[in-house]
This record gives sequence, structure tokens and C-alpha cells, in this order.
Amino acid sequence: MALAGEIDISKVDEIVKELGTGPEQAIPILQRIQGEFRYLPPEALDRVCELTEITPSQLYGVATFYSQFRLKPVGKYIIKVCHGTACHVGGAVTITDTLEDELGIKTGGTTSDGLFTLESVACLGACSLAPIVVIEDETFGKLDPKKALQIVNDFREREQQGG
Ligand code: FES
Repeated sequence: MALAGEIDISKVDEIVKELGTGPEQAIPILQRIQGEFRYLPPEALDRVCELTEITPSQLYGVATFYSQFRLKPVGKYIIKVCHGTACHVGGAVTITDTLEDELGIKTGGTTSDGLFTLESVACLGACSLAPIVVIEDETFGKLDPKKALQIVNDFREREQQGG
């Protein structure tokens, strides 16, 4: 996991070189940085301000306004619990409550072992499978709290066996 101080800052230089330095590039630059580091490391944001015409207040304004951007490091697996209408009706709140209890974190938090980050997201476009949870690129549908727990525990076991 990329921790503060351990990032390859030259990636930021490459991204800015490719996308340009105008303030209108703030969102694409942030998206690319997050794609690279999985969150927005402060030193990467400082570097963007050095290299572009974007001021720190503009950049942090954009980074905090849009919920897609993360300002804190995330775990190896991001668990996204869908809270769109269909999933909400199907019991997403109970699934989130159960996972928060199991992982000992609140939504938005990361487990102390750095394995899981729990997020709440809007409709992911798979309503026929509601309620759903997405972990990295895998979608798990028609869940109940027990199945959701089982899935998280399967990921843990997979990890203990060496990923
Ligand atoms: S509401 Fe969850 S996938 Fe649409």
C-alpha cells in the first residue's frame, strides 16, 4: 500500500505533462492521480500546484467537493455497499451496519490492518441484483447480511493464504 512519503512523485509530473496545466484540468488530473495512488496523497497535490496554474485552494476545493475523491489512504480492498434506491429497499442499511460491526470501522474508514476500506456508493447500475456489494472489480448480488459477512471473510482467508 502506498503510504505518505512513499509515493513516486514523478507520476504526477507525467500526468500534468500529458493533461496540461490549466485550471480546467483540475478534475482530470485528480482522477488520474487517484487512479495511480488510489487516493490523493498531499504531496501529490502540492506537486500539482507547483507545476500548474491551479492554486491550492482551487485544487483542495475540487478534491473535497466531489465524493469520488479520497483524501486518505485506502485499504487493499475497497468494499462498496450500494445505497441506491433498489439496494436501500433490499436492505443495504443492515448490510452496512453488519460490515461496520464486523470490521470495527465506520463507513469511510479503513481497518487497522490496511486490508479493507468500507464505502457507501450510489446506484451502480446492477439493480436487478439488489442489494449489491462491489469489492474491487467483483460484484456480489442478492445479498443479505450473512452472505455479505461470508464474502468479507472469504477475502480475509484468501489474504491469509497469501492473496
Ligand atoms: S440501487 Fe444498487 S445497483 Fe442500483
